[in-house]
Amino acid sequence: MTLSYSLTATDGAARAGTLHTAHGEVQTPVFMPVGTAGTVKGMTADAVRSTGARIVLGNTYHLMLRPGAERVARLGGLHRMMDWQGPILTDSGGFQVMSLSALRKMDKDGVTFQSHIDGSKHRLTPERSIEIQHLLDADITMSFDECTPHPATHEVAAKSMRLSMAWAERGRRAFVPREGYGLFGIVQGSTYADLRAESVKALTDIGFEGYAVGGLAVGEGQEAMFATLDVTTPLMPQDKPRYLMGVGTPDDIIGAVARGIDMFDCVIPTRSGRMGRAYTSQGVLNMRNARHCDDGSALDPACDCPACTRHSRAYIHHLIKSQEMLGPILLTWHNIRYYQQLMARLRAAILAGRFAEEAAAIRAGWSTPA
Ligand code: GUN
Ligand code: ZN
Repeated sequence: MTLSYSLTATDGAARAGTLHTAHGEVQTPVFMPVGTAGTVKGMTADAVRSTGARIVLGNTYHLMLRPGAERVARLGGLHRMMDWQGPILTDSGGFQVMSLSALRKMDKDGVTFQSHIDGSKHRLTPERSIEIQHLLDADITMSFDECTPHPATHEVAAKSMRLSMAWAERGRRAFVPREGYGLFGIVQGSTYADLRAESVKALTDIGFEGYAVGGLAVGEGQEAMFATLDVTTPLMPQDKPRYLMGVGTPDDIIGAVARGIDMFDCVIPTRSGRMGRAYTSQGVLNMRNARHCDDGSALDPACDCPACTRHSRAYIHHLIKSQEMLGPILLTWHNIRYYQQLMARLRAAILAGRFAEEAAAIRAGWSTPA
């Protein structure tokens, strides 16, 4: 059987379940740390696993350019190459081409673009994207799509969404089913309810092992994102996982889980960790700030990660100020652990039927002292 999902409990629209993949089970709702180039930046695979993470994300775009998909396959696949024995989801490349490649040209059949690394010319089609994700050995392969830029007129959003739907169908044909592996479709349609409905219908008619919501967190704001989820997730199959791509802050995630999303990925915990920011039970801390220089207390007293149990805010501030590499490493570790603890709390609350109370309690903690 291909990758499957079992729904364990619901609390309002919020869901708790389990993903069954070729490389193990994953409890949902889940946050997937981003390992774009075959590494969660600054973290060994063991360190990532120790945070509670059970699935990570990789990128078609980066890995096809360097070290190359065929080379990853010769090295035994992405799991072996990066020493991550759990499941891996890979994004399909279109989104990254649009955000990273300077020169790109889209046609009905795919995208031709220049590498942001050396300017070399490459092409991605729905079929080649699926083939690359097979070579990487992704447990979860994402359909090749266009992330419609925001804002878009109804006409532009409709055309873009329908192109993604045609590409999703081509990808479905190119995908080779294997035990525990699956292909996800990606719902597009910008902030238009009718287009989101049409997209869900097109994808469910084709049939996928899971369904993602794409084209959000692209500048529309949290209110418009939640409004779009409100008209989209009720239409999505109950018995398949739902993945909100590229989201988000802890507050975004709580709001999306409340609206029936099961899976998330985002660079926020890793990227902001490298920039000196910590997501904590008390809110967001900028560890560059001089107010931390004599503070002997823990980064987050509610956290059990190495940064919080073995070091002080003052030491982490010193590491960041001195541009020592341990600073970003410790903050990345902490932020991923914070996100994993957040997801575990949300899941436990759904199972106990007290999701709304737990969400309110978590948010109430975020009154960051000035
Ligand atoms: N990452 C964030 N948004 C998107 C999207 O719409 N499509 C894809 N493929 N990846 C994304
Ligand atoms: Zn911590």
